[in-house]
Amino acid sequence: MHGTIISASILNSDLSDLRSTARKVDESGAGWLHFDVMDGSFVENITFGSSVLKAVKPYSGAFFDVHLMVTDPTRQIKLFAEAGADNITIHAESGCDTLAVLREIHSAGIGAGIALKPRTPASAVIPFINDVDMILVMTVEPGYGGQGFMPDMLPKIKELRALAPDKDIEVDGGINAETAKLVKEAGANILVAGTYLFRSEDMHKAAENLKNA
Ligand code: DX5
Ligand code: ZN
Repeated sequence: MHGTIISASILNSDLSDLRSTARKVDESGAGWLHFDVMDGSFVENITFGSSVLKAVKPYSGAFFDVHLMVTDPTRQIKLFAEAGADNITIHAESGCDTLAVLREIHSAGIGAGIALKPRTPASAVIPFINDVDMILVMTVEPGYGGQGFMPDMLPKIKELRALAPDKDIEVDGGINAETAKLVKEAGANILVAGTYLFRSEDMHKAAENLKNA
């Protein structure tokens, strides 16, 4: 389990200039770059595929944290691992053979995570707990950045920390200096932030605010 890590989500960054976004994230001290991959089927929005990771990789020193919001991610694992993913998180609700896909992610030599939508109970991770490095708790409905934090997710974070004391627990959606304090107190140690970081005047200070919340 890591200490507190900030994972900068590029979803609400200037997507017309990912090279500078990657440099800004490196300079901010947010050690992870979070890629919200959406297929227009699991969620209505469509974002980007493994080719974007490949394009950004030469310009980034960050850990590539891939969040697959896709229906049946089975065929994506090899593509994203080869494109430079350091971790791939799949949704418990994505309708694939979750255990097989998590094991395929590990056989690619990278970190494996399982994500829960807001309405999915913490207990959904129990069958997979020994096959993941990280549990991602959505604190907004998946699909878009810039949404409001869902405080009723805090008991779920607490429950997951009790279920998985040594695993990384990542939270994703509506994270800012105020909500960062709440989720860390509940047991989260990896904070995804997009809007808060990319709308800030000083991204390094913003990242520090989250780390020290
Ligand atoms: C939702 C996305 C967002 C994004 C971060 O599917 O996963 O949660 O990463 O969004 P904000 O802008 O709220 O930090
Ligand atoms: Zn995400």
